Amino acid sequence: MKALTYYGDHDIRFEDKEKPKILKPTDVIVKMVKTTICGTDLGIYKGKNPEIEPGRILGHEGVGIIEEVGEGVKNYVVGDKVLISCITSCGSCEYCKKQLYAHCKDGGWILGYMIDGVQTEYARIPHADNSLYKIPSTIDDEVAVMLSDILPTGHEIGVQYGDVKPGDAIAIVGAGPVGMSVLLTAQFYSPSTIIVVDLDQNRLDMAMELGATHVVNSGKENAVEAVKAIVGEEGVDAAIEAVGIPATWDICQKIVKPGGHLANVGVHGKSVNFEIEKLWIKNLTITTGLVNTNTTPMLLKAAATNKLPLKKLITHRFKLSEILHAYDVFLNGSKEKALKIIIENDL
Ligand SMILES: NC(=O)c1ccc[n+]([C@@H]2O[C@H](COP(=O)([O-])OP(=O)(O)OC[C@H]3O[C@@H](n4cnc5c(N)ncnc54)[C@H](O)[C@@H]3O)[C@@H](O)[C@H]2O)c1
Ligand SMILES: [Zn+2]
Ligand SMILES: [Zn+2]
Repeated sequence: MKALTYYGDHDIRFEDKEKPKILKPTDVIVKMVKTTICGTDLGIYKGKNPEIEPGRILGHEGVGIIEEVGEGVKNYVVGDKVLISCITSCGSCEYCKKQLYAHCKDGGWILGYMIDGVQTEYARIPHADNSLYKIPSTIDDEVAVMLSDILPTGHEIGVQYGDVKPGDAIAIVGAGPVGMSVLLTAQFYSPSTIIVVDLDQNRLDMAMELGATHVVNSGKENAVEAVKAIVGEEGVDAAIEAVGIPATWDICQKIVKPGGHLANVGVHGKSVNFEIEKLWIKNLTITTGLVNTNTTPMLLKAAATNKLPLKKLITHRFKLSEILHAYDVFLNGSKEKALKIIIENDL
């Protein structure tokens, strides 16, 4: 079978790999239907994760059809269409019992990282009973792909950790797929003001379409001053960081009001300047985290009602055989006006 593989900094290939086999009774083999490329995959491509073994198949988001089941799998049979969660969970370790699936002792984020992933024709999914979801017939495959990672990430690590409440003023810094997922799921909780900050005007325009009340282009104006001009000097109830660089952390720490929440979602490759000398007095809650996907079942129900305009996040479609080109387009996301890309298994 063909697969997108990683060999090191700026070295990905589309090559033949052996079809995966069941290794443990709790595994299934899935024939991929649709997958996508994540900002995290771009980070891998750019050399952020040298710990990844050469030859690893990338990808941790997608929808597939079960082709083979291990003898210990109880909830799935051959032919079921399933959503693959970016997080694998055994369901029984100390962390799984606390719903901190991100830290599962035999799982967590392993797909397309520590084990072969889903940007391919067939994938092995461990702990299938806890790591897959049946897709209601009312949910389109492409919409379902948005629920593997970005939607639960935005909801759990952005909105829930940010404790967004009715009437709140919130700021989302970063309007990539993750920031947009924060924007969509924040609206479950009816904040009165939602400010989205980014450098990319095209993404900001889309944020207005998706429910932002204000946008700030931080390439053109001082983001901290612009946010305070909208909500007042004290700042926002929740500042949600969805980029992962020092500059955007800094905006967040300067715009959150006393008693507020700063929820960091971005994956940082460097230290940030944490202004503890100014923040110690503010009674803030500052959170960090990797998505647990514990709210995926709830998000599936919300998506099934078609109330979330998830299709609007999809800007490009490619076949699996064109995946190297799809990486190129996604790498030039701003120029190509790309947000989320769907890759269909045509092989
Ligand atoms: N915590 C988790 O569990 C988790 C899960 C998935 C992704 N992530 C991380 O979330 C972050 C966002 O992911 P994404 O896929 O949306 O990424 P992305 O790269 O598509 O989006 C980032 C956005 O930030 C904007 N940006 C860059 N520099 C900026 C600046 N100085 N000021 C304002 N905006 C700026 C870009 O224009 C872009 O729109 C990444 O760091 C990703 O690795 C975290
Ligand atoms: Zn991802
Ligand atoms: Zn576990």
